Amino acid sequence: MSPRLSVNIDHVATLRQARVGREPEPVAAALAAQSAGCAGITVHLRADRRHIQDRDLRVLKEVLSLPLNVECAATPEAMESVIGPKPHMVTLVPETREELTTTGGLDAIFLQAPLRQIIRELKASDIRVSLFLDPSREQVMMAAKLEADAVELNTGVYSDLPFGSDPSLELGRIRDTAKRAANLGLRVLAGHGLSLRNVGQIAAIPEIEELNIGHSIIARAVFVGMERAVQEMLSAMGAMNGAGAAP
Ligand code: PXP
Repeated sequence: MSPRLSVNIDHVATLRQARVGREPEPVAAALAAQSAGCAGITVHLRADRRHIQDRDLRVLKEVLSLPLNVECAATPEAMESVIGPKPHMVTLVPETREELTTTGGLDAIFLQAPLRQIIRELKASDIRVSLFLDPSREQVMMAAKLEADAVELNTGVYSDLPFGSDPSLELGRIRDTAKRAANLGLRVLAGHGLSLRNVGQIAAIPEIEELNIGHSIIARAVFVGMERAVQEMLSAMGAMNGAGAAP
C-alpha cells in the first residue's frame, strides 16, 4: 500500500509574508489540498515566524477535517505556542535562524534529557510526537527509548543526490532504518526534498506510512494550481485511490 501524503503549506505563507499581507491565504491552500485527496496538512512554526504564524495554527485546527502536523523546535517557547491549538501531532525538528530550511535530523542521543521532558509534556496534552531524524539505527533506537510515537526519516541527503548518481546506498540506509523503527513499534514517516522525480522509490518502502512534502508541491502549484499539484504527487506516490486514515 502507498503511504499517505501530508502536504506542507509553509511556502504559501512565505509568499504572504513577503508583503506581510493577507494573500495568498495558507488556510485556503490547505483546504484545496484537502479536497485534492491528501491525508494531512503540515506546517512548521519557526521561532522567527518567517512563514506560518500562530493565527494560522488556530484557524487550520478549526477548519480542517484532516490531521494537522506541526513541526517546531524542541524548546519551551515552541511548546507554549503549539500545545494550545492541540494539533494531531507535533514533529520536533532542529532549528537555527540562519538555515533556509531544516538541514538535518535531531540528535536524539545528545538531546535525550530535554526531549524526554518535551515528549512527556506533549503526550500529557494528548498530542502525538514524531522526531525528525537522519536515517540512523542509533537515532531511532533512542526515539523508541524516549517513547516517541513516530519518527520522520530525513530524505534530504537522498533528495540532494546529483542527477544521475546511484541512490542505492542512501536508499539502503533509509530502508534499513525504516525497518528497524517499525520493529521497535514506531510509526515511520519520511520527508524533505521529495519531488515528482524522486518520490517513487521512497513511497515504495513498505514501512513508510506517510510522506511530508512541501516545496515541490507548492512550486508546482504556482503553475498548475494546488489541487492538480497534489493530485500529481499522489499519482507519483502510487496513492491516487487511497489517502487512508491518520495514524
Ligand atoms: N519534513 C521536515 C521535518 C521539514 O522541516 C520539511 C521542510 O519544512 C519537510 C519535511 C518538507 O520538505 P520539503 O519542503 O523539501 O518537501
